Amino acid sequence: MKAGRSSAAVGVLLACLAAPGFAAEPALADSGCVPAGQLRGDAANGAVLHGKYCAECHGASGKGDVIVMHMDTPPKDQSDSAYLKTLPDAFLYLAICQGGEAVGRSFIMPAWGDLLSDQDIRDLVARIREFSGT
Ligand code: HEC
Repeated sequence: MKAGRSSAAVGVLLACLAAPGFAAEPALADSGCVPAGQLRGDAANGAVLHGKYCAECHGASGKGDVIVMHMDTPPKDQSDSAYLKTLPDAFLYLAICQGGEAVGRSFIMPAWGDLLSDQDIRDLVARIREFSGT
């Protein structure tokens, strides 16, 4: 079944390419991603989520000190307080919820609003602030 296998591979590839912002179910990314109110949640829960979903690209302490071959635009150092001070909480929230492309950044940064809850995203914003002390 050579043909079957290669079309499955194409399907996986397309799913990867289309993943940000593409979901069959109504998701947070479609229904809102509204950065209202206090956007800094529970950093401790954010740390758990970060280790699970983000550290592979951003590094465990947000420094982006990981080698990821496919990233033409690597993540910036999120422990750099001068850089993080230029980014409002609402920007961080939207970058996480809607993905890099939605905020004018690299599409390699996935949209997490399909997977994570509004509260999870707030917890991650709090965690990212810890990296830089901002
Ligand atoms: C597949 C790799 C990858 C994963 C996984 C990933 N990111 Fe990113 N992220 C990136 C890249 C690359 C950028 C930089 C985009 C640019 O500067 O154009 C980025 C940018 C960001 C930004 C924008 C602010 C900045 O640093 O310039 C935030 C916030 C962010 N990521 C948070 C997260 C969070 C939280 C997670 C986990 C839920 C996550 N990322 C998972 C690759 C990734």
